[in-house]
Amino acid sequence: MSKYDIIIVPDPVLKQQAQPVAKVDDAIRQQMDNMLETMYEAPGIGLAANQVSMLNRVLVIDTTRRDEEAEEEGPGPICMANPEVVWKSENMSVMEEGCLSIPQQYADVERPAIVKVKYLDYDGKEAEIEANGLLSHCVQHEIDHLNGVLFVDYLSSLKRNMILRRVDKLKKQEVL
Ligand code: NI
Repeated sequence: MSKYDIIIVPDPVLKQQAQPVAKVDDAIRQQMDNMLETMYEAPGIGLAANQVSMLNRVLVIDTTRRDEEAEEEGPGPICMANPEVVWKSENMSVMEEGCLSIPQQYADVERPAIVKVKYLDYDGKEAEIEANGLLSHCVQHEIDHLNGVLFVDYLSSLKRNMILRRVDKLKKQEVL
């Protein structure tokens, strides 16, 4: 396995639409493994292909780290290709989100509380999960990435610009 470099705003690759994969083959599995390693190392709980300069619809999630803090048991690593929200609840949920591509910045984001997501798993088989709580926010956040959408896009332009300026400042201070 090897690690990828994580792309940081305002790189245009983060605003691009990722393309579906034809099938989950060894090359995609390798990409999933590398993305998981990159995510754990960061550390983060989700990573989408755009964030490592790849424009295919692949994402990885592992909320275990945060679940342990909350003393809940998580599902472990989840790898998805071509994920698609097939159902969402009318109930909404607000949770503080962050993003490895927008380092050290956090804001409340409102999303459907529960979603059902269809995808191809690590073995290329069709799978479906129903996600709520942290996992729901995380999977919606990562699918957004594949559509070129960032969590700051849900904020007022005032808040968004403030966050982007702060990241810029961190870059200039060479903290990132
Ligand atoms: Ni993100």
